[in-house]
Amino acid sequence: MREPATVLCVVGTRPEAVKMAPVILAARRHPGLRCRVLATAQHRQMLDQVLDEFGIVPDVDLDMMRPNQALADLTSRLLSSLDAVLRDEAPDVVLAQGDTTTVMAVAMACFYRRLAFGHVEAGLRTGDLGNPFPEEANRVIAGKLARWHFAPTQGARANLLREGVDPAQIFVTGNTVIDALLATAAKRDAPLPVDLAPGRRMVLVTAHRRENFGAPFAEVCRAIRTLALDYPGDAFLWPVHPNPNVRDVAHAALAGLPNVHLCEPLDYAPFVTAMKRAHLIISDSGGVQEEAPALAKPVLVLREETERPEAVEEGVVRLVGAHYETIVHQARHLLDSPAAYARMARGVSPYGDGLAAERIVATIARQVLPAPAAPDLHEAAARRDLRPTADTATC
Ligand code: UD1
Ligand code: UDP
Repeated sequence: MREPATVLCVVGTRPEAVKMAPVILAARRHPGLRCRVLATAQHRQMLDQVLDEFGIVPDVDLDMMRPNQALADLTSRLLSSLDAVLRDEAPDVVLAQGDTTTVMAVAMACFYRRLAFGHVEAGLRTGDLGNPFPEEANRVIAGKLARWHFAPTQGARANLLREGVDPAQIFVTGNTVIDALLATAAKRDAPLPVDLAPGRRMVLVTAHRRENFGAPFAEVCRAIRTLALDYPGDAFLWPVHPNPNVRDVAHAALAGLPNVHLCEPLDYAPFVTAMKRAHLIISDSGGVQEEAPALAKPVLVLREETERPEAVEEGVVRLVGAHYETIVHQARHLLDSPAAYARMARGVSPYGDGLAAERIVATIARQVLPAPAAPDLHEAAARRDLRPTADTATC
């Protein structure tokens, strides 16, 4: 392979930008790699918010987002646009993260051009194609077509092994979201769009899952309304996802309540500050489920199933579905009982140690560069005091 090897990092939505930013920054630091960034812009403002935060300017921007976009339309536009970019860029390696339509389309476009695709955050599964929808299917397709699988946990690795993936192609790295979180949380707190007097509790809410649209989402809003009325001294901060299926319903259900603060999506740094400042988090987000335990914040997850079982098994995240009674009951329990709260606010972080991106980039370099030019993880460890964990034994 020629040197430097070209690594094309693809980002489409907000969580992909959060989780790929540490990989992009690590790849840029690597002397043997030339890192290019392709934004599909499946999201527009929410993608740009995160890329700005990390100082990343895409080399190519497909500007794909349309208002209230449909899955089939987005997928077909992505596939044809991505194919043209892959032809022109001719990368040695393509990396993409997660389970969005962007990731599924990237994996397919690479397959058609016989390009090596590395899947970041590989192996998460619920086993139910309807939950999360359509992300479970996207992740299975991306996994089927990937050459390298960067699994965040041993559980994700086990899922891939069960599907017959070659163990030599799976690398347990931790989740890059913890790299992004730790780097951002270490900075000075950002201002929040709500006035929080010292000691005033804040409940942070986010929601956007397609499987919750319609009646389940109306129940979520009704539950938040009940809690806001029951706890008038607590603030409820909800940065509302701009999808009209979320935004219009949330505003209609909650407008006018003095302690509910509906705002635009927060930039990543203020959102991390909001998580740090929150007493309790109620969310259906994948990334928030991973970040909050590392900040010792209990999360009630508005889903029936999760492809991130580790924090649930640790008892620091609880699934409550989109059921009015369960959400209200579980939130009251945590807001009223200091002992129940303390049991969940333990600072357990099963998803990583902040070094996942370094492991991914070191692995890619070892795979694609001639042996002497590829610094191995032990060298990197010596240089940057990064110690490989037992989990990276497969790297
Ligand atoms: C997408 C992903 C989901 C991920 C989520 C993260 C798919 C199928 N879904 O869901 O896996 O968890 O992103 O947030 O890939 N919009 C804006 N501005 C933005 C972003 C979105 O206005 O910056 C609005 C647009 O009307 C857009 C709509 O939201 O059409 C839906 O965006 P889309 O990416 O299709 O779905 P999400 O629900 O955001
Ligand atoms: N996030 C953010 N601003 C917000 C809400 C969330 O920066 O207003 C971050 C959050 O910290 C996490 C990511 O966005 O890293 C999660 O994105 P989202 O919930 O949209 O997608 P998911 O993780 O469910 O795919």
